Amino acid sequence: MKKIRLELKDDAYNIYIGSGILAEAGRLLAAITGRQKAMIVSNKKVYTLHGKKLFQSLLKYFDVSVFLMPDGERYKTIDTVKKIYDAAARARLDRKSVIVALGGGVVGDTAGFAAATYMRGIKVMQVPTSLLAMADSSIGGKTGVDLKAGKNLAGAFHQPALVLMDIDTLQTLPKGEFINGMGEVIKHGIIMDAEFFNYIKTNAGKILEKDKNTLLSMVEKSALCKTKIVSQDEKEMSGLRAILNYGHTIGHAIEAETGYKGLKHGEAVAIGMAAAARIAGAMGLCSQDTVNGQIKVLNSFNLIKPLKKLKTGNIIKRLYNDKKVKDGKIIFILTKKIGHAKLNETVPIAIIKAELKRILSEAAQGGIL
Ligand code: NAD
Ligand code: GLY
Repeated sequence: MKKIRLELKDDAYNIYIGSGILAEAGRLLAAITGRQKAMIVSNKKVYTLHGKKLFQSLLKYFDVSVFLMPDGERYKTIDTVKKIYDAAARARLDRKSVIVALGGGVVGDTAGFAAATYMRGIKVMQVPTSLLAMADSSIGGKTGVDLKAGKNLAGAFHQPALVLMDIDTLQTLPKGEFINGMGEVIKHGIIMDAEFFNYIKTNAGKILEKDKNTLLSMVEKSALCKTKIVSQDEKEMSGLRAILNYGHTIGHAIEAETGYKGLKHGEAVAIGMAAAARIAGAMGLCSQDTVNGQIKVLNSFNLIKPLKKLKTGNIIKRLYNDKKVKDGKIIFILTKKIGHAKLNETVPIAIIKAELKRILSEAAQGGIL
């Protein structure tokens, strides 16, 4: 079992990564909280696959209850949070109790927000079971729900007391969801760690076969990237944490323009990363090798899917409505070379338009090469 310690200004917690470690959950959590009440929040699909192991492990130390929310982003709502509060109250959870989130990012964000606010905040343990949740959402304390007006609009920073990633759970994750998570994993390599990027490139075959040792290594390296960023900029104040949004500026606009249908988040972000790479290349910030290297790796995981023809003008309009606009300028995250990313507020609009037009046209013709 591997352990990463995430140190924050006023807090610190451990992230455990291993194979078969759901069975260790009770012991590891009890070492922090003592014997308490714990409520698992999950959904039926994940709980049926992995819940029993977690439940039995927690039962050795905790008075355990279970709340199952429906599966899917459309249930990442304040209404589900209210239901979690009611279940917590029925189970008589108190300020020393713990919510244990077992699932993908939807469960983690929703249960995390319930924990952040129930009785003004109780502990949460994150037990991510999707690759996206392991690589990204379970680390760093962003919790929240969607509103009609947009995604993740209500939330709180609430760092977990403990994160436990059992890579065996990835074996049941559908291939499409696995690939979706690879978008964030590759992003970490591009923005933070050239060696890790090369590791992903070299081991693409083994990663796609879900080879256990390779997954263990990859999830650890990816978690280390995120940990380094969060420990230096917990609340996204200095601009460092914002580089995690690499590819998201255009990715979000494409998701919104396609009505959040057809493309997965990771696929939209992959097109966004390809566009950001091309923009950096067109501005002369990075070499063509840096641009093409990113696109090649994204393609090796089949992350760049054909896209119906989208109007460049519509995407540009959405970019200007995004929260990443400052004083009328669109903020991009751009890479100078693999492993180094920075915010950039000076991208000429002509370059954005030209590169976007080229990318959207290539995607509509079947691919970006
Ligand atoms: P998800 O939680 O919807 O999971 C995807 C699907 O996989 C679901 O059907 C889920 O039930 C299923 N699943 C999960 N683990 C499984 C397993 N081991 N075996 C079989 N099926 C499994 O989606 P996601 O991609 O994990 O997370 C997306 C969410 O994460 C979004 O709401 C996004 O806003 C959020 N997010 C949050 C942060 C953050 O910092 N908090 C970061 C990135 C994304
Ligand atoms: N997923 C972006 C962040 O955690 O800041």
